[in-house]
Amino acid sequence: MKAARVPKEKAEFVRKLAEKSKAKDRERLIIQKGDCVEIPIKDGFENLFSEYQIVEQKNPVFARKSNLYGVLKEKIPKEYRELIPRRYKIIGDIILIKIPKRLERFKELIGDTLLRIHTRCKAVWVDRGKEGMLRKPKVELIAGKGSETIHKESGCLFKLDISKIMYSLGNQYEKVRIVKMVSDDEVVLDMFAGIGYFSIPIARHSKAKVYAIEINPTSYHYLLENIKLNKVNNIVPILGDSMHITPEGFADRVIMGHLYCHEFLPIAIRALDGRGIIHYHESTPEAVFDRPIKRIKMAAEKEGKRIEILRFKKVKNYSPGVLHYVVDVYVY
Ligand SMILES: C[S@@+](CC[C@H](N)C(=O)[O-])C[C@H]1O[C@@H](n2cnc3c(N)ncnc32)[C@H](O)[C@@H]1O
Repeated sequence: MKAARVPKEKAEFVRKLAEKSKAKDRERLIIQKGDCVEIPIKDGFENLFSEYQIVEQKNPVFARKSNLYGVLKEKIPKEYRELIPRRYKIIGDIILIKIPKRLERFKELIGDTLLRIHTRCKAVWVDRGKEGMLRKPKVELIAGKGSETIHKESGCLFKLDISKIMYSLGNQYEKVRIVKMVSDDEVVLDMFAGIGYFSIPIARHSKAKVYAIEINPTSYHYLLENIKLNKVNNIVPILGDSMHITPEGFADRVIMGHLYCHEFLPIAIRALDGRGIIHYHESTPEAVFDRPIKRIKMAAEKEGKRIEILRFKKVKNYSPGVLHYVVDVYVY
């Protein structure tokens, strides 16, 4: 990334020239170096500044509103530009990005650029999806270092290791919605607690007692950390398989925050204290969009219960043709 090194007294004149001739690279800021300033210029405009020293900037400072596409479009051959990701996740001080296969050869450049844009971030990881029932992330470090971070959301702190645990940022509205519904005298069961995505905000914002079951020892470790970090004392953390260890007849509300958990519906229904609300999540192909309702009905009938569907809503697109739905159902 080039810049014209110009004595301070000429800086204003050269800046104007660079702006007028559209040679100035707006993604980078002008920086001071001793008695000179470095005015960032785009490739191909070097001749315009031939009376000044042209330098290759090792540590450019990017404009705060600069974006990955804006910076990279000058660095990556034309035919790849449209593939540059426009979006990525920032979890605490770590960036997670999906990179199309054809852009793999530029991954170091992408990582490096992101760290320069987001100067408070310490590492960039490629997100290659999640594996299995435990939703273990497949990730690769491409810039910086470190995988443990503390993410802040809705006034709660979530410590996690992004190389070991998934963090679903997209469900924030859903978490806030559930938290608002919980009253102080409730007993809540979180059957797939993870690091406390639902349990922590519920415990922070109400006096409800929350039983949080998690099968993965790493997630459970961070669940315990997050209970401490958020100073909540109304969560009962339980390490184990909710299929086998969920007690019966005690909960007012059950959260089933796993996308593939229909086989756990009978367990959730039995966990209710006779009646109560279940928040059931499912990833469902659009073609069979009412499958979650059918599955709930079937499970309830088998358990000799009746149901009233309170709400049936899409949370987000999950994959092409597949949606993430949530059903609020009153079971009695
Ligand atoms: C999808 S993640 C939690 C997501 C979170 N509820 C959210 O929406 O952001 C699912 C969690 O359920 C845990 N899990 C999977 N099967 C389980 C089981 N049988 N019993 C308890 N926890 C389980 C996984 O280890 C993982 O931490």
